[in-house]
Amino acid sequence: MPIQIPVTRTTNPKPIPADVGRSFGDYFTDHMFLMDYDSAKGWHDHRIVPFDAVTLHPSASAIQYGQAIFDGHKAYRCDDGAIRLFRPHAHLDRLNGSAARLCMPAVDKDDVLEGLLRLVDLDRDWVPHQQGTALYVRETMIGTEGFMAVRPAARYTFMIFLSPVGSYYSEGSAPVSILASETHVRAARGGIGSAKAAANYSASLMASEQAKAAGHTQVLWLDSVERRFLEEVGTMNVMLRIGNEIVTPPLSDSILPGVTRDTALTLLREWGETVSERPIAIDEVMAGIRSGEIEEVWGLGTAAVVSPIGQLTYRGETLTVGGGKTGSVTSRLYAEITKLHRRPDNDPHGWSVLVDGSGAA
Ligand SMILES: Cc1ncc(COP(=O)(O)O)c(C=O)c1O
Repeated sequence: MPIQIPVTRTTNPKPIPADVGRSFGDYFTDHMFLMDYDSAKGWHDHRIVPFDAVTLHPSASAIQYGQAIFDGHKAYRCDDGAIRLFRPHAHLDRLNGSAARLCMPAVDKDDVLEGLLRLVDLDRDWVPHQQGTALYVRETMIGTEGFMAVRPAARYTFMIFLSPVGSYYSEGSAPVSILASETHVRAARGGIGSAKAAANYSASLMASEQAKAAGHTQVLWLDSVERRFLEEVGTMNVMLRIGNEIVTPPLSDSILPGVTRDTALTLLREWGETVSERPIAIDEVMAGIRSGEIEEVWGLGTAAVVSPIGQLTYRGETLTVGGGKTGSVTSRLYAEITKLHRRPDNDPHGWSVLVDGSGAA
């Protein structure tokens, strides 16, 4: 049975700022989608309401024990003027994977997608127009029950809110400088690194702030056991071209299964590239950059899509990758993925979902 999603429109719509799409996440649209969960009723009270603060019990499990997960993807204004979401099903699958890992309830993906489509439709004027911009969609689930013992909560709130965004890095799509962390790890083996849990991001803050203070854009994360194998870069998955082989670390419980990573792997295999998902040691990377065998290293994620890495620092040695320029595979991936975002006539995988304007009340 289709769910009811009552819509309460804002009586006080915000003016859409002129620089919308030139910042990342500084603005939020006028409405949000909410639903609540308790063990007796399951998910209930689906609704779209004016964007506002949420009130929490001081002892809510989200606050005390970090029962907080999220996911993030984008809606694009396409070349035909229509608005489309890119791979929302993959993101909702990952959201449910994150929920399972933190003992939180799964959402009904069809219901959430329905709420999301209506929300984006209602706030469609906030989807920026310029190339390289999008409306970022943030799904969030938090444990709301207040109690003191350490256990999973019995009550949750799920929300979706929207933020018009431009480039994630101030460098835009220019190559960035990365510091391989010798002292900190993002996620431990056996931990929650493959879930998009809020706690993983607090775990990353100190190393990331230290890297920025030392003049780098982000951190290259190494594995938690040997501190040797590449895991991720900042909040992105990482890929390299070593000679004619394209390599990315295999998924594990300490790596987030990126949707952009999956998109890139699909395209690269279709293009006939040799692609390996295998462990890569930092020593192999440094040696390969020194010898010139590694000419391209890049990050992959929803926010920046494809982000070339121009410099890598490890144990005090800084190497320039591929002359500090964006390599050919990096450029091709960026061009092809951004084309998939905006070109409805070019969607062989059926990855885009139309926001068709029939939903908003
Ligand atoms: C830690 C981390 N790794 C990788 C990614 C890339 O994932 P996706 O391509 O699904 O955005 C993200 C962003 O969501 C992330 O936060």
